[in-house]
Amino acid sequence: MGGDLIITGGMPLNGTVHIPAAKNSVLPLLAAALLCNGTVRFLQVPHLADVDTSVELLQGAGCTARWQGSDITVQGVPSTCRLAPEAAARMRASILFCAPLLARLGRVETVLPGGCRIGARPVDLHLSGLAQMGVHCREEGARLILTAPAGLHGADITLGFPSVGATETLLLAAAAAQGETVLRGAAREPEISDLAAFLNRCGGCVQGEGRRMLYSCSFAPMADRIVASTLACACAAAGGRVELTGCRPETYAPLLEILAQMGCRVETGPESAVITRLGALHGAGRVFTGVYPALATDAAPLLAAAMLAADSASSIEDVVFERRFGCAEGFAAFGAAVQVQGRTLDIRPVRQLQGACARAADLRGGAALVVAALAARGRSRITDTGYIDRGYAGFAQMLAELGAQIEREMPRESASEKKTPSKKQN
Ligand code: EPZ
Repeated sequence: MGGDLIITGGMPLNGTVHIPAAKNSVLPLLAAALLCNGTVRFLQVPHLADVDTSVELLQGAGCTARWQGSDITVQGVPSTCRLAPEAAARMRASILFCAPLLARLGRVETVLPGGCRIGARPVDLHLSGLAQMGVHCREEGARLILTAPAGLHGADITLGFPSVGATETLLLAAAAAQGETVLRGAAREPEISDLAAFLNRCGGCVQGEGRRMLYSCSFAPMADRIVASTLACACAAAGGRVELTGCRPETYAPLLEILAQMGCRVETGPESAVITRLGALHGAGRVFTGVYPALATDAAPLLAAAMLAADSASSIEDVVFERRFGCAEGFAAFGAAVQVQGRTLDIRPVRQLQGACARAADLRGGAALVVAALAARGRSRITDTGYIDRGYAGFAQMLAELGAQIEREMPRESASEKKTPSKKQN
């Protein structure tokens, strides 16, 4: 979509938001649909750039994948093992399409995945696990050619790090492999439980062409706990009262607990959370992210943005990614007193953040700049908003409906793009 975001900060937020489905559940689910016979329908999927990229990958693999209102249906058997390189290089989740294509076609050709530059993000855990299941991996520069000449077989695999993506890759491979697979040291993020629930729902393994296939089904992906975390931090930063519905608070409990320690009132129900911040916001001291159920790495930049508005110091260390705080430069543009030391962002209190122009450098960092702008006095401009569109559908509208003064400035047409009056077709 593109276009800068123009924000006039200082307005408290008030209202209710129903949390949309989770990007990080929908993407592995779309890859899992490749394992299914028949038509799979995913319900109420948010219109995100990464979802469109996944649809492009599925269509490129020969499947019928399309939007039907806010649902996505995926049908058919992949006919080619080649993932479209430009699309595959655009997002991290393209790596998740490898295991299903190996299961169906015995081969996949792709490129190393793209995604936010928040660290080295190798795929060695994916490949070493697949190798234990009968996959031969070949890297040629950025190209990745994987083959499973004898199909996939179960294995007892120990992950050196509870990688979310590697766990999803191996779960997908195991669902189609002959024999039992045990994953030790696996990631436990709720999105993985969602993928497991989908695979179990499609469970009855259909033996077809000597390869295990799954039935198809309709499935509603879980709510996006990081979007919920983003809005909770926006309320903490700007003040006001925001109710988040449709998302289980236990999926982002550490964030809510820290916001409560910082002076917010947090009231939770089975599928809701109400965050109220009327008085001063205090610093949180030293905070660490971790693998689930600890504070989510994706929430770190968003929580940091709220910390900028606090009257005492905080520091937040991301133990998962090496370069999580690319947004620190943008924070400084707002007059924040921040310093990055390795994986840690140190934040000291300032009297008042001032509106500024800042550039998004990654998905969650870009959203964090918007949160900071909501707390800043005056007008701000956030550029490179394409990063934000990868993970947030209608972000500006969501915030505007809560009372924020935010609008998206559509890119001006360049002179050459100005539509010259078309000649009447005769
Ligand atoms: C998923 O990325 C999410 N992306 C990320 O969300 C999220 O930050 C991350 O999990 C952690 O929760 C999607 O689900 C599409 P990892 P992923 O494998 O799978 C290292 C967002 O903003 N590692 O758990 O790439 C890796 O370098 C995105 O929505 C290896 O060393 O995360 C990192 O340091 C950003 N070798 C750590 O593990 C591997 O083979 C965690 O990565 C794989 C990972």
